[in-house]
Amino acid sequence: MLNRNVYSKLESLNPTGSFKDRGMTVAITCAKNFNYSVVIAASTGNTAASASAYSARTGMTVVLILPRGKVAVGKMGQSYLHGARVIELEGNFDDGMKAVLELYKKYGTIYPLNSFNPLRLEGQKTIAYEIVEEIRVSDFVIVPVGNGGNIYAIWKGFMEMRDVGLIERVPKMIGVQAKGASTVARTIIESKDELMIKENPETVASAIKIGRPVNWRKAIRAIRISEGSALEVTDDGILSAQKDLARLEGIEAELASASTLAGYKKALELGIISLSDVVVNVITGHALKDPDIMLIYKTNSVLSNSSNIIDTIIRLIPTDYISNS
Ligand SMILES: Cc1ncc(COP(=O)(O)O)c(C=O)c1O
Repeated sequence: MLNRNVYSKLESLNPTGSFKDRGMTVAITCAKNFNYSVVIAASTGNTAASASAYSARTGMTVVLILPRGKVAVGKMGQSYLHGARVIELEGNFDDGMKAVLELYKKYGTIYPLNSFNPLRLEGQKTIAYEIVEEIRVSDFVIVPVGNGGNIYAIWKGFMEMRDVGLIERVPKMIGVQAKGASTVARTIIESKDELMIKENPETVASAIKIGRPVNWRKAIRAIRISEGSALEVTDDGILSAQKDLARLEGIEAELASASTLAGYKKALELGIISLSDVVVNVITGHALKDPDIMLIYKTNSVLSNSSNIIDTIIRLIPTDYISNS
């Protein structure tokens, strides 16, 4: 088990397996009320899955722009299952987002579901509401940062609860990014006022492989005003955190989400957080979204019909357990 002061907020339990559902239900409801019948999103995968499900429920047509070959198979499958119209773009997420923004400016008739749509962020504030409902207040909340909308939405939720007197203080917000896609984190670490763009972001955590986050200003505000921090973590650190969450806590987190635990470990090393601080790691999505990655942890034995099954089982059990029993 991990330190008892570390909580995991399981956004993987939402209907499509990620936090995106919280904002998508609001955005799609509003799209319906505004009389739109076609919606669009660029996505690294989870927005796509969520947009597809909520569009299906309301009978809307959803168009998705996904970077070809860079979206986890579970998320692709979810989008196909719900009947989305998928465009696979030779390029990265940022190219897709640019197209959605252009389309939105040119034609007002296709409703955008990306997180520059403020209604998405209004829905995501409920993560903060639930944290308060569940554990009152924590010292830190650690959030993986891609486009930067979620960390801002959670902070906004806390700020509004503080303003109406429901909580006395707002937790410090810690944003975590993979080293190869570190934009907001580098901007904060280097105390810059303009975004440190990454033209070719690279990380195993495909959900946060974003070089030009649209909500970077909002994310930086949340981190700076809450007196939080931004951290970069390595891909190896993320993979080992995914394994630790699974093997020490029984939690199935997709890689982007596991970055929060890698970030927690780094924050301890840097003295930003101490062991007695109460911390919430936001586990933004489920490991089942990306089954290919989980197979790298494979350790099974394959037996032919002629092998001795009993001997093989005994070999897998610690020897002191066998000799003491
Ligand atoms: C699992 C997961 N975690 C974190 C993020 C990053 O969230 P945001 O873009 O709001 O920073 C994403 C975005 O796609 C995601 O899918």
